[in-house]
Amino acid sequence: MTQESLFEPQAGDGGNCQPLTARGLDSLRSVAVECRKCRLSEMRRNVVFGEGNPKAGLFVIGEAPGAEEDAQGRPFVGRSGQLLDKILLAVGFERKDVYIGNIIKCRPPENRNPLADEIECCMPWLNEQLEIVAPKMLLLLGRVAANTILGNNLSMAAMRGRIIRWKGFDCVVTYHPAALLRNPNWKRPCWEDVQMLRAHYDRVCGDT
Ligand code: URA
Repeated sequence: MTQESLFEPQAGDGGNCQPLTARGLDSLRSVAVECRKCRLSEMRRNVVFGEGNPKAGLFVIGEAPGAEEDAQGRPFVGRSGQLLDKILLAVGFERKDVYIGNIIKCRPPENRNPLADEIECCMPWLNEQLEIVAPKMLLLLGRVAANTILGNNLSMAAMRGRIIRWKGFDCVVTYHPAALLRNPNWKRPCWEDVQMLRAHYDRVCGDT
């Protein structure tokens, strides 16, 4: 299926009882896993497309898959992921409640930061995911995710601790779990950020 035809009705779609959003994500995933747009496709074991509730009110965005994510094809399943699960659970979110994705979908070698051209090649997938899931809120983990999404070059200190409105989404920026593993002093501000996120989520998403 070409990208252009992704959201056109397909033969046989009529009998599919999956919700439209889930079907949109499945179609997108089937194209994304074949992606060869940048050099990272030559080194990856798996495309880490993203996963979670296709109708989530909260979309969590990390930077890029690590070794464990590359091996399993799932986002945030390594040490950072275990910490992310705890952070989310601390404010009442299970993985099934949210959608989790990354700025780029293939692991960079040695876990280096994604390069500008890799981000440029990969962002269309995330933009499509955001359009399909249509969350009210984004949780942006770390400076790479936040600078990329918000299109700025601000420091973490300048972005965290407040709700940032961006293209109709209410965004919260906080430290990446991998940074918290390196520097536990950042756990307190992260805790404050996710409490603020939860309070705002309850206001804009109600009980959903
Ligand atoms: N770090 C990220 O930014 N994303 C993952 O999926 C795993 C680790």
